[in-house]
Amino acid sequence: MRKSPFLPDRPLKVAVLGSSGAVGSELLKILEQRNFPISELVLLSSERSEGKKIIWKGEELVTKKTTKEEFLNLDLVLASAGGSISKKWLSNIKEQNALLIDNSSAFRLDKNVPLVVPEVNASEALNHDGVIANPNCTTILLTIVLAPLSKLSTIQRVVVSTYQSVSGAGQLAMEELKYLTEKYLQGNPQNSEVLPYSLAFNLFLHNSPMLANNYCEEEMKMVNETKKILNIANLKLSATCVRVPVLRAHSESINIEFAGVVEPKDALEELKKSPGIEIIEDYKKNRFPMPNDVMGRDNVAVGRLRTDISQPNGLELWLCGDQIRKGAALNAVQIAELLIPKK
Ligand SMILES: NC(=O)c1ccc[n+]([C@@H]2O[C@H](COP(=O)([O-])OP(=O)(O)OC[C@H]3O[C@@H](n4cnc5c(N)ncnc54)[C@H](OP(=O)(O)O)[C@@H]3O)[C@@H](O)[C@H]2O)c1
Repeated sequence: MRKSPFLPDRPLKVAVLGSSGAVGSELLKILEQRNFPISELVLLSSERSEGKKIIWKGEELVTKKTTKEEFLNLDLVLASAGGSISKKWLSNIKEQNALLIDNSSAFRLDKNVPLVVPEVNASEALNHDGVIANPNCTTILLTIVLAPLSKLSTIQRVVVSTYQSVSGAGQLAMEELKYLTEKYLQGNPQNSEVLPYSLAFNLFLHNSPMLANNYCEEEMKMVNETKKILNIANLKLSATCVRVPVLRAHSESINIEFAGVVEPKDALEELKKSPGIEIIEDYKKNRFPMPNDVMGRDNVAVGRLRTDISQPNGLELWLCGDQIRKGAALNAVQIAELLIPKK
């Protein structure tokens, strides 16, 4: 057991495991932008990106291949290299008494690992024993909106459809969408190699493995992780996840059934005062959140709140959020910030 959940009260030796990827690159930006207290930053990847140089805070840093020596004396590991990689290095991280904040799904449903969205369940971050899980990107965006609305009336059921950008599938998928779109416009459509189908002028249901109940893994992550974060074990939730040809930022159409009537104007007021949320809603101009509104931004944009015409206790809303940022990298850094001792 760790003696204290907090990080040491000094500039930290931090590693970004998966630093060359979509989430890893954003982690580096956010650590710089938020002036996270770092004495040494270690960039780790596979041998494919070994030697890659980046400028961080004006200094040239070189990406290293991940080996056990690289974990020596670390205080914090922000991991975005996939679940198997995090699991592989966990004992080396724990040996150093370092904290792992992990972006993969490897530990999210482990009852000994907190699953944290700082705006929703910050205090959970203190209950860790060396590992904290960052939720799935679509789940973070969903819970940041459900948590404040649950103060207005008990949430009984949620039905959500997602419109997930290609960046959710990583750096290579983003590059491929640009290439395949160019080829399509040149009249020379090509097959995809990174995703199962080309996303150029197309969309398809999320390609994560299909489960016995005919929901895919991504959809069941939303179901199970939302229950854990909101601490509502019997929450009814159904999700349909779709990949769309947007480069960056996910969108979600959300239908919420409450125990009582929740007026859209009251929901709007509650969301306006909630951290991490901004409202984009102009019914006269038919202007609501779009992925382009939130690219590179911290806040989740919400709008189009309306009563569900099919049932009086229902509320419909729409959101967009930069899932590499708030859905992954920013959320991870915010978790780490919760554990920096306050002066
Ligand atoms: N993209 C998102 O929106 C998002 C959101 C939430 C969570 N996540 C999760 O975050 C993780 C990373 O996603 P991503 O989109 O950033 O993927 P990505 O762009 O494909 O990046 C993967 C990173 O992992 C590194 N890596 C691969 N194999 C490795 C190994 N054997 N040892 C060390 N490093 C290795 C890669 O290094 P090389 O350059 O050397 O290959 C790269 O830096 C995944 O678990 C994903 O599910 C992603």
